[in-house]
Amino acid sequence: MKQQTIAKLLAGLTGLGIALGVATAHATPEQDRQEFIKYYTAKYPNIKLDDYVYGALAFDADSKAQYDAIMEFPPYESQIEKGRKMWETPFKNGKTYADCLPNGGKQIAGNYPMFDEAKGKVVTLENAINDCRTANGEEAFKPGDKNTFGFLTAYMRTLSDGMLMNIKVEGPKAMAAYEDGKKTFFARKGQLNFACASCHVQNAGVRLRSELISPAVGHAVHWPVFRGGDNLVTLQNRYTGCFKQVRAVPPAVNSVTMNNLEYFHSSLSNGLPMKASVFRK
Ligand code: HEC
Repeated sequence: MKQQTIAKLLAGLTGLGIALGVATAHATPEQDRQEFIKYYTAKYPNIKLDDYVYGALAFDADSKAQYDAIMEFPPYESQIEKGRKMWETPFKNGKTYADCLPNGGKQIAGNYPMFDEAKGKVVTLENAINDCRTANGEEAFKPGDKNTFGFLTAYMRTLSDGMLMNIKVEGPKAMAAYEDGKKTFFARKGQLNFACASCHVQNAGVRLRSELISPAVGHAVHWPVFRGGDNLVTLQNRYTGCFKQVRAVPPAVNSVTMNNLEYFHSSLSNGLPMKASVFRK
């Protein structure tokens, strides 16, 4: 990253990071979500909350128009088709994913990640899929593997299109996991000493080199994404990429740290419609 860009980004770090990170410690998730929205809408009064699902595209009408054109005939349809076949192929015992996931796997993606009291930890949709596999005598997929989880969820999540994100944080253990994810989101890290919030809160709508930075609200509703055409990227793989951008060592995909981060980060999108999968640059 160029010196100039870093200076520009650092200049944008007002007291708000601290305000959001510290003043709202122990705020309820709903208060946190409202505070994020208040911050973004004060800064960008012309952008409607519903448009935050478009990420950085919400700030750039030309890119949004290109996106709309690409989305009419998505270049990654064959990959979704692969996922559909995986979804429909029965396990060796004759059962299917639809048999073991809640509601046949439909309109459920917005409930994940969820806090599982019995397990005492956050369960992502990928975890629920693996639980389903192992309960049926199949091998678990490797965390974050795009050829398995990637394709499968690219299709499976389409079954939840239109569902509103609905992350629940209830009880002290769930709250602790949420707070842990929030801490990761606000912690400065890497050689560049940036937090997720440095870019996706304070600098949302700002251009970093050639890229406009997206707001964190709306981030979690549209995964996996297909970058540049057919390069599938899952949400936690995107986190990994962002950790690397600031030259930090990323936590492992599906680690407690990553799953708690996904829990907090997804709850910021509560109330926004799910849409799988989308094109990104
Ligand atoms: C140095 C700035 C920077 C930091 C720090 C950073 N990101 Fe990003 N992030 C970007 C850029 C640039 C993009 C690509 C443009 C965009 O969509 O915002 C991006 C994209 C994303 C996206 C994809 C958005 C979409 O709709 O496709 C997610 C999700 C994301 N970042 C989450 C995170 C999380 C979580 C962290 C903290 C672990 C983080 N980022 C840290 C700069 C950053």
